[in-house]
Amino acid sequence: MTHIRSAASATTSRNAGAVQEETTQALLSVAGASDANAQGHSERVRDLCMDIGEAMGLGPSALADLRYAASLHDIGKIGVSKSIVNKIGRLSDEEFSAMKLHSVIGIRILERIEGLQGALPMIKHHHECWNGRGYPDGLAGDDIPLGARIISVAETFDILTSTVPWREPMTLGDAVQEIRRCSGTQFDPEVVEAFLKVVKKLDTTAEALVEALPEASLQTREEAA
Ligand SMILES: [Fe+2]
Repeated sequence: MTHIRSAASATTSRNAGAVQEETTQALLSVAGASDANAQGHSERVRDLCMDIGEAMGLGPSALADLRYAASLHDIGKIGVSKSIVNKIGRLSDEEFSAMKLHSVIGIRILERIEGLQGALPMIKHHHECWNGRGYPDGLAGDDIPLGARIISVAETFDILTSTVPWREPMTLGDAVQEIRRCSGTQFDPEVVEAFLKVVKKLDTTAEALVEALPEASLQTREEAA
């Protein structure tokens, strides 16, 4: 009897994992339907988060939560006006306030999915800043979930190096320099260190580029919304 229960439990567990994965993909498809860049962005951020998380020595459970959180970090944009999400150019203060709600809206969408509970704090707080000047709660330092701090770096790097309608993508070296410039203010310095290790593996010329380039002066926080 115990054996039968164990087998049933294992099957349920496998099914739960599959449903979780399929739910994630379905939600990403919905997001992709209203924002053409959403799915590619989510996948690149997920992959970079996994590399940073592994470089920081996260265990399997934390990595699994981070994987779902990174995939779904911007899912709340489904609940923000398309005209704001897809606007070309800078957002007005009012539009930016509406855009900032996406991290909380994401939690409302996902909070009833049992297998995503560990990912929820990472999603809610992925726009907090190390110095406490982010949103939605103005958390600072270690009060920000580690996964959220990792997503913050990965998301910003992807936005800087991606093509957007109003500017050319930054070079790898420029983007790395910008991440380094914001270490200790926007970003957790330890996450930035892990990110730099990962990037050096991606492109061995990045370190030399970083040393050679002047500091960039982008409004990174606003662009990363
Ligand atoms: Fe976001």
